[in-house]
Amino acid sequence: MSTLYGPGLSAIHHEAFASHGDLCAPGILAALAPDCQVLELGAGSGALTRHLVAAGHRVIATDASTDMLDLLAEAVPHATVGRLVLGDDGIIPAPNIVSVGHVLNYLGSQEQVFDVLLQCVDSLEMGGLLLLDLLDRSYAETRATLEPLRWEGEGWEMDVTFALASPDRFVRDISLTWTDPDGTSHHEHEVHTNILVDADEACRVLVDAGLVAEVRRSFGDEVLPAGFAVLHGARPAG
Ligand SMILES: C[S@@+](CC[C@H](N)C(=O)[O-])C[C@H]1O[C@@H](n2cnc3c(N)ncnc32)[C@H](O)[C@@H]1O
Repeated sequence: MSTLYGPGLSAIHHEAFASHGDLCAPGILAALAPDCQVLELGAGSGALTRHLVAAGHRVIATDASTDMLDLLAEAVPHATVGRLVLGDDGIIPAPNIVSVGHVLNYLGSQEQVFDVLLQCVDSLEMGGLLLLDLLDRSYAETRATLEPLRWEGEGWEMDVTFALASPDRFVRDISLTWTDPDGTSHHEHEVHTNILVDADEACRVLVDAGLVAEVRRSFGDEVLPAGFAVLHGARPAG
């Protein structure tokens, strides 16, 4: 797969779009036992990782984007950082697995999402939790408008157009420009295709593989954007 989240988009996400991790953190922290080992998938620049580490958990934070991982290593120095590309790389054994920011929706098909969920189940140790969010099929209906949007910050601007390529494929076409302190300007273009997943079916995959699992609207008391679903799975202790 081609790697998304190059240097410009990673830096802009870190600066302006990391609040989802803050939103999800309290519910995830409440679910985990104290002093856990946690494998985080698609950790980005550490929006959730920093909360896990601050709470005393030992975190292996992984992502496909090396630019995101560089930012994470700087922002959360006490996390262990490693590149893990879902769909290409295997998932290492883990006492607990977490992921926020609809990371699995970046895979190429619902079947690939289910394959990765099964890999998570295989990797999860007895008594461990699997906690992640997904864009459900209903996300398509929640997008009342597909009007383009523009965001601007200091030294950067980003234009995004949206399309529903099919009922289960939500596409963001992202063009961004940023200027270095020395005045050099850069341009980056990325196309993000998110496969929209039937969260109930995804949950059934987990249950059939032996987890106690359910679909929730949130990790805790937070209100997630419409169309997000949380998969909450637990591997029975024995
Ligand atoms: C919307 S960002 C969320 C980042 C972070 N979890 C957060 O909430 O701020 C999606 C992340 O998924 C990562 N990602 C996309 N496809 C991936 C894959 N196949 N394997 C691992 N990470 C992937 C991207 O690099 C990006 O960091």
